[in-house]
Amino acid sequence: MPDSVSEQKTLYVVVCAAGPASDVGTLVDLAQEQGWTIQVMATPSAVSFIDVEALEKQTGRPVRSQHRAPGDPRSPKADAIIIAPATFNTINKLANGIADNYVLDVVNEAIGLGVPTTVLPFVNSAYANRTPFKASMERLSQEGIEILTGPGLFEPHPPKSGEKYIKSFPWSAPLRRIRGYQ
Ligand SMILES: Cc1cc2nc3c(=O)[nH]c(=O)nc-3n(C[C@H](O)[C@H](O)[C@H](O)COP(=O)(O)O)c2cc1C
Repeated sequence: MPDSVSEQKTLYVVVCAAGPASDVGTLVDLAQEQGWTIQVMATPSAVSFIDVEALEKQTGRPVRSQHRAPGDPRSPKADAIIIAPATFNTINKLANGIADNYVLDVVNEAIGLGVPTTVLPFVNSAYANRTPFKASMERLSQEGIEILTGPGLFEPHPPKSGEKYIKSFPWSAPLRRIRGYQ
């Protein structure tokens, strides 16, 4: 862990509107234990899935889901980004360079700047089997974005069964991948 707050690196925790979003505080806790300063970024749809007040208390920073007003302070620069849970929607948009909300704006630019980005999807098999989704996953991988797929990571669950898999969402997996960037 770094010696002082000034040495701490900043991790953007990007949360999308999928089942496990309400537990994103678990990832925040784990990342803080490793010495990261956390900036939570929520897609507009994810805001109703999370406890904004609790996350702001936990991180000491505003949860960002909108562009800031002129004069409001900027978020600290990201040293790494974790997108978890990542939705079908956000994965497809990110892969195609769409920036139609604040979070996508920030992440599209950060990827272009070379900020290491790790994606942990939570998507059912009906969506995951779509050709556009497969292409998006491939495209993001080719761009150097790490997508955590495979046993114990992202394995599409059967449609209508998401609830059953929320508690086993592997929050610590993306943190292990970004350790080297601290
Ligand atoms: C209760 C609920 C659960 C959802 N769960 C998922 C999910 O697990 N994965 C997913 O890709 N989309 C899920 N969706 C659909 C997304 O919320 C929807 O596509 C939304 O537009 C995603 O927005 P975002 O990618 O900007 O966060 C869910 C929607 C609702 C209402």
